[in-house]
Amino acid sequence: MTLFDVYSLYNIEPVAGKGSFVYTADGTEYLDLYGGHAVISIGHAHPRYVKAISDQVSKLGFYSNSVENSLQTTLAEKLGTLTGYPDYQLFLCNSGAEANENAIKLASFTTGKKKVLAFSKAFHGRTSGAVAATDNPAIVSPFNRTANVEFAQFGNIDDVREKLSSGDFCAVIIEGIQGVSGIHEPGDDFLRQLRNITKSQGVVLILDEIQSGTGRTGTYFAHQTSGISPDIITMAKGIGNGFPIGAVLISPELKPVKGMLGTTFGGNHLACAAAIAVADVMAEEKLIENAADTGAYLIGELKKIPALKEVRGRGLMIGVEIEGNASELRKKLLFDHHIFTGGAGAHTVRLLPALCLNKQLADHFLNEFKAAL
Ligand SMILES: Cc1ncc(COP(=O)(O)O)c(C=O)c1O
Repeated sequence: MTLFDVYSLYNIEPVAGKGSFVYTADGTEYLDLYGGHAVISIGHAHPRYVKAISDQVSKLGFYSNSVENSLQTTLAEKLGTLTGYPDYQLFLCNSGAEANENAIKLASFTTGKKKVLAFSKAFHGRTSGAVAATDNPAIVSPFNRTANVEFAQFGNIDDVREKLSSGDFCAVIIEGIQGVSGIHEPGDDFLRQLRNITKSQGVVLILDEIQSGTGRTGTYFAHQTSGISPDIITMAKGIGNGFPIGAVLISPELKPVKGMLGTTFGGNHLACAAAIAVADVMAEEKLIENAADTGAYLIGELKKIPALKEVRGRGLMIGVEIEGNASELRKKLLFDHHIFTGGAGAHTVRLLPALCLNKQLADHFLNEFKAAL
């Protein structure tokens, strides 16, 4: 059997990781400013994380959602405190797309309506509803294409108002900061206006914090600088530091009905053990504060580089727009300077490091980056 060849691969295989670094089999060290696509939050192979998963799998790796699992309630309590949403309800699943799928489904069940408003350049995942709400026709199959999703112009509140005036919408879905599009912020004012309009029209507001959440931007969720409370928040990526887990945070105003949502693997014992360890380490090591500090430093230093077109983002979610070809620059950074970065479009390099990145490593990156430019 061969692999279904859908990924463009770099000819490189990390086999180990530690903190902000990954290593190939010959021991070559790479600084990881990509975090495996914003997934690594507390750092590779954190000892607390390794122990939590190892201990749990030696006891019980899995049982179904038909029995009590106190690890789920422990995780819900810890996330309630860490996120600042202690009165929200938690539904656990396995990935970001699945979290959005459940969020949309819940909005539709609750309102009895079927249309979703998403935004230009949005990315919400690759499953049926999530991909339909993703503004990239290349990854939307004919089966996924639906009149139930419309797109408003990102940041244009008049466009939102006009689209919602039909009264057909169950939800508006928006990323806390657009990631795949190349790091674009909706802006606090826009989010506040969006909250007001959705509330007044009885439309569920879904904040997709799958990439921008888990402390990456210097607050637990990117939207929290705006002061709004969404009806539903979706999470994945950093919450498990690499262990597949997705989460839907649901306002107390939305009521559960038995059987309304469900999953075999979601909230399993191993995933919960991983996410509890991540939550504990984030709080104890003050990683959100570190993301804010190190991120502000990195962004400030990047903005001093005259050759760059634009530096966007917050905390450790950064988009660096260059004049030239970003893919060539990223290859150079990887193979000549041993630094992993992410991409977005033709001219943007994305930095999505673990939240434990320190200023010394930020300086190392800055020096190598300037040399590679
Ligand atoms: C904002 C956002 N939403 C959803 C997803 C989909 O998550 P997953 O790949 O875990 O399904 C991603 C993945 O990059 C994302 O960035």
